[in-house]
Amino acid sequence: MSAIINKVETLWWYLSRPSYSVQLIQLFRRFLNREKERTRSEAMRWCQQVAIPMEEVLYKLGIDKIEYPWEVYTDYWQEAEKRAKRVPMVMGGAGAVEFIFTITRALKPVRLVETGVAYGWSTLAMLLGTLETESARVISTDMPYPKMGNEPYVGYVIPEDLRQRWLLIRKPDILAVPKAIKHFGGTIDFAHYDSDKSYTGRMLTYPRLWQALRKGGIFISDDVQDNIAFKEFSHQIGVEPLVFEYKGKYVGVLKK
Ligand SMILES: C[S@@+](CC[C@H](N)C(=O)[O-])C[C@H]1O[C@@H](n2cnc3c(N)ncnc32)[C@H](O)[C@@H]1O
Repeated sequence: MSAIINKVETLWWYLSRPSYSVQLIQLFRRFLNREKERTRSEAMRWCQQVAIPMEEVLYKLGIDKIEYPWEVYTDYWQEAEKRAKRVPMVMGGAGAVEFIFTITRALKPVRLVETGVAYGWSTLAMLLGTLETESARVISTDMPYPKMGNEPYVGYVIPEDLRQRWLLIRKPDILAVPKAIKHFGGTIDFAHYDSDKSYTGRMLTYPRLWQALRKGGIFISDDVQDNIAFKEFSHQIGVEPLVFEYKGKYVGVLKK
């Protein structure tokens, strides 16, 4: 009974918020894709087979050392950690921040799109990674967790003086990603995917980001062990997937 009440409350949450209710289409598509949604074991086995160390992934991208944002920008990072302590709920965990920081610092992208913000650790890594590239802008998409009331805290760790180079689109990816890409005139240099972890969500948004990515641009997806979307997508586009383990999960990287 409580499961039914929970579902009805979730449905109401979506229906009473017009900017998020379009996500219901995705929830229905997930149901249609349910076999693909249950491919975690296959994806995990694949990740274990193909994973290489993070340093090697960087090396293949022409970068010879990892840099840590908390060492290079200690004050900003400490301020972010203080801000995180003021968040009264638990949101989604951080992506591979030192990897994101190292890549953005080395390759100097100027049009960056990320999906999924929560506290904002990966956003912070991108904003700090591009701090010396004055023209760089980060656009993030985020739809808050249904019923959690975490809207005011999305991106909370990002210090105020870094926010002028950041735009947050508070809509589900299905609407927000095309907007973010359009904002950059249709072409982006860097994409980080860390929002809807379903097969359905990834297979909608991976191609959109990939199509907009310029040649030589970098695409990163978090948690690729969740289902076979990343494996299938990399095969579809015919690009060598670079995968590394990070804190017991796997991150996938593609260079266009
Ligand atoms: C794992 S957290 C992001 C963590 C963040 N990248 C970091 O490194 O700190 C995932 C975020 O994506 C949001 N999200 C989930 N599904 C989404 C969707 N369909 N569209 C946009 N955001 C979504 C969640 O509410 C949450 O804020």
